[in-house]
Amino acid sequence: MDKFLIRGGRSLRGKIEISGAKNSALPCLAAALLTPETVTLHNVPYVKDLITQRRLLEDLGATVLTPELRTHKITAKNIETFEAPYELVKTMRASVLALGPLLARFGQAKVSLPGGCAIGTRPIDLHLRAFEQLGAAVSLESGDVVARAPKGRLIGAEIAFEKVTVTGTENVMMAAALAKGKTIIRKAAQEPEIEDLAELLNKMGARIKGAGTSIIRIDGVEALGGAEHTIIPDRIETGTFIVAAAITGGELEIKSCDPGHIKAVIDKLREVGVEIEELNQNTLLVKCGAGGLRAKDVTTEPHPLFPTDMQAQYMALMTQAEGLSTVTETIFENRFMHASELIRLGANIQISGNKAVVQGKTRLTGAPILASDLRASASLVLAALCAQGETLIDRVYHIDRGYETIVKKLSSVGADIERITDNIAASAD
Ligand code: UD1
Repeated sequence: MDKFLIRGGRSLRGKIEISGAKNSALPCLAAALLTPETVTLHNVPYVKDLITQRRLLEDLGATVLTPELRTHKITAKNIETFEAPYELVKTMRASVLALGPLLARFGQAKVSLPGGCAIGTRPIDLHLRAFEQLGAAVSLESGDVVARAPKGRLIGAEIAFEKVTVTGTENVMMAAALAKGKTIIRKAAQEPEIEDLAELLNKMGARIKGAGTSIIRIDGVEALGGAEHTIIPDRIETGTFIVAAAITGGELEIKSCDPGHIKAVIDKLREVGVEIEELNQNTLLVKCGAGGLRAKDVTTEPHPLFPTDMQAQYMALMTQAEGLSTVTETIFENRFMHASELIRLGANIQISGNKAVVQGKTRLTGAPILASDLRASASLVLAALCAQGETLIDRVYHIDRGYETIVKKLSSVGADIERITDNIAASAD
């Protein structure tokens, strides 16, 4: 298993290019299952989750060509099976995004029920209930969700989600695009990734209005066609690099990003004392303010408020801010796994239920630590960059799921970071 060896204490300086959004590319790839024609996607990040999603499409019978590294041409003409096996679903929950498109186009789908994961139980009950409202018969057979549209086609319906769900909204939006009649989704997730998916679907011929707001209206169409689309920049990668500049007392120009997608993060970090200047629509200049960092509380909420996917990185930053801050996690029940590893580096953090109280500023010193999930790994890298001495982070396969060439990007702005590949462990895998 690969590890990162980081020698901390260097200020990061220079320019960093943001990749395409993993959480947008994943549903957009799945959307290609809705049509026999070719869907071309640009700016698809080269990360492990996208390789897995591509494998899922190929297993189903689609052809995926990559004429250039970040361009995928997907043709789901000869779909042979309607099943996403456990082997794939267990490595990547986003495989459940195959359910909506398969059910809508072929009237049947079988996807392994994802189990819990490091950050919580993460059920998909809301997706399934919504499919039932669209007329599907849904059952659980030997750990698989089996869904069928009785007369071969889903029927539009009014769906009011009990709780805001990002992949739930995406799954239903894709399913309803080909359903008979109108669908209204209430309490829809408003993330930029939802808007991006809706834009692609509309280019494919769907009739979707209101994506990006809490009410989405969909007029189902008979068939969808091919389209070409460029994936939006990754807002969580952008936020992670803003914190990287601030935590190392450096100065980074962050390019090819969309500041409008992370307004809540930018506002909070400015409050904390990070100087963030919008050089233009796609470029940010970030540096730590002269007065240092001030502790401020944060609570994670669905978009447009502070994202849970930035909570771990924010906590790492708070270890370097003067004062006491409370980080409250409201989206997932077990998303503080990074705290115990930050404590190993010298942080002062007390956890009580869904609140973490961070006392800063603490001097961090390098130690061997373990990455537990994708964003937790990012927070450990950030902490290690500002810790004195060497930090060895194990299980970095988590970070490879969602951060494109992170070692290369960080090294290019002055970080002392290297990937250590343990060949003995790799051959044993
Ligand atoms: C997506 C993102 C993930 C992000 C999360 C919250 C992708 C691939 N992943 O995950 O990075 O952390 O949004 O912004 O885009 N819930 C239910 N039943 C359901 C569905 C969800 O109870 O059927 C609960 C979840 O357990 C959680 C909350 O709703 O407590 C939000 O989950 P959801 O928005 O669905 O997260 P994901 O779409 O899995």
